[in-house]
Amino acid sequence: MASAYPVHLVLVGPPGAGKGTQAVMLERELGLKQISSGDLFRENLKNQTELGKLAKTYIDQGELVPDNVTIAMVEERIQRADCATGVIFDGFPRTLEQARALDEMLVLQGSVIGLAPALVASDVIVSDRLTGRRVCRDCGAVYHIVYNLPKVEDVCDVCGGELYQRSDDLPETVCNRLYVYYKQTSPLIGYYFARNLLVRIDADQPIETVKQTMLDAVKAVIRK
Ligand code: AP5
Repeated sequence: MASAYPVHLVLVGPPGAGKGTQAVMLERELGLKQISSGDLFRENLKNQTELGKLAKTYIDQGELVPDNVTIAMVEERIQRADCATGVIFDGFPRTLEQARALDEMLVLQGSVIGLAPALVASDVIVSDRLTGRRVCRDCGAVYHIVYNLPKVEDVCDVCGGELYQRSDDLPETVCNRLYVYYKQTSPLIGYYFARNLLVRIDADQPIETVKQTMLDAVKAVIRK
């Protein structure tokens, strides 16, 4: 289902709510481009850039990378041609300052955010999802040791790469990431509610159920 105008979605939700998992599926279904700020930082880290080295000092503590650095990175990324039909923002914005900056960036492009699905998930469930998550070293595909198993243990279904556990998915860092979410990111729920863009999605449900609820909500916006 395509729209005549770019459709931009902002996925809000705690770490482990399933933003990345859903963004990849929506990308396939809707032809929009997933932009994950976390993936952009990890890509920089893999390439040993100065940005990657800086980001690592925050990511390893479960803290947010400073707004100015994050905003500049995303601003540069969304100028590229693959974002022209619309973007699924995954993990950005994460502070009110980032949300305001994103609004300004989109205004300059003559577009706006179409919907902000908030993935609402319980703390105990997200902790369990994060500590059991495994990620492909080569293509970044995401699995879970119980809920989303690869066909062959520790091998990526997509590219055959090796699966690993993210350093920030260890229990002590997960706890701080949740704290940071409540303190710095959850105010975005009010921000998007006030703009009539928020739709709450029950993210405690299985992956396919969440996907269908998300798709129904997004397609309703595209039809408008
Ligand atoms: P980032 O990579 O964005 O991590 P996050 O927001 O903490 O989100 P996650 O990737 O951990 O979770 P997710 O919601 O995408 O869940 P997923 O789909 O993988 O950020 C990492 C760090 O980078 C930050 O801490 C910060 O330091 C920095 N950073 C990034 N963006 C920033 C920004 N804008 N500003 C400043 N700093 C920033 O699913 C999790 C697991 O659950 C998987 O194993 C999956 O298979 C499983 N799963 C998913 N959905 C379900 C389901 N419905 N049922 C069962 N299992 C499920």
